[in-house]
Amino acid sequence: MSRERVAKTFDRWAEEGHAEGMEKGHGDVVDQVIGAMDLAPGEKVLDLGCGNGWATRKLAQANAGVQAIGVDCSPQMIARADELHSFTIRARYDFGFFEELEFKDGEFDRIFSMEAIYYATDLARSLREALRVLKPGGRADIVVDYYKEAPGTDVWPKQIGLDMASFSEAEWQANFEQAGFVNVTTRRVIDRRGPGDESEHEAEAWLRRVANHEAGSLWIQAEKPA
Ligand SMILES: C[S@@+](CC[C@H](N)C(=O)[O-])C[C@H]1O[C@@H](n2cnc3c(N)ncnc32)[C@H](O)[C@@H]1O
Repeated sequence: MSRERVAKTFDRWAEEGHAEGMEKGHGDVVDQVIGAMDLAPGEKVLDLGCGNGWATRKLAQANAGVQAIGVDCSPQMIARADELHSFTIRARYDFGFFEELEFKDGEFDRIFSMEAIYYATDLARSLREALRVLKPGGRADIVVDYYKEAPGTDVWPKQIGLDMASFSEAEWQANFEQAGFVNVTTRRVIDRRGPGDESEHEAEAWLRRVANHEAGSLWIQAEKPA
């Protein structure tokens, strides 16, 4: 799968307004994760696959002087992020690819990512790049809803029309360890708003939705050796 195809797909998502839908859908889980990240004043954080930058802006507002940089391979997502930007916060949105990040070694204190890393065309290389741009002792907080234990997600690659890296919770952990991360742990984050409104779904779809909500988002925490 080419990176251009990924970029084109998400350009279309941006044009069709899905970025704002993702903000609504992922908002509560991201609030929980960013809250628990406990960003310290002045830290520099990278948001991998920032989309329209809504989570990048939340990261920048998490504590005094936090600087957040979002990276995304979709020019339309980056354009949308620039439009939505607030000049009262220290945030920026760069076009770029996970596989070759245009940042110096050790540039970031922290890395965050929501629902993006499994689209990498080369996951091993992307994780090595994430490790490279982290400071020694820096931590990555990566969240994915697409993992083998999450019911009903196996149809996503076909629906979306893209290859997606499919791993179990244990396999995700192993991927980070193979890339050189240490203290890799995983946990599930449950959307506190519940599975949604039953009246808006067909019976079978509702059951899938409830099961998926119960499985939660997979939050992978990993550190660069000090
Ligand atoms: C499902 S969206 C999630 C966006 C945002 N994090 C959110 O939760 O709303 C995935 C994003 O990752 C970006 N992406 C996918 N593969 C990428 C790659 N290899 N390099 C950079 N960005 C990528 C896409 O362009 C897209 O905007």
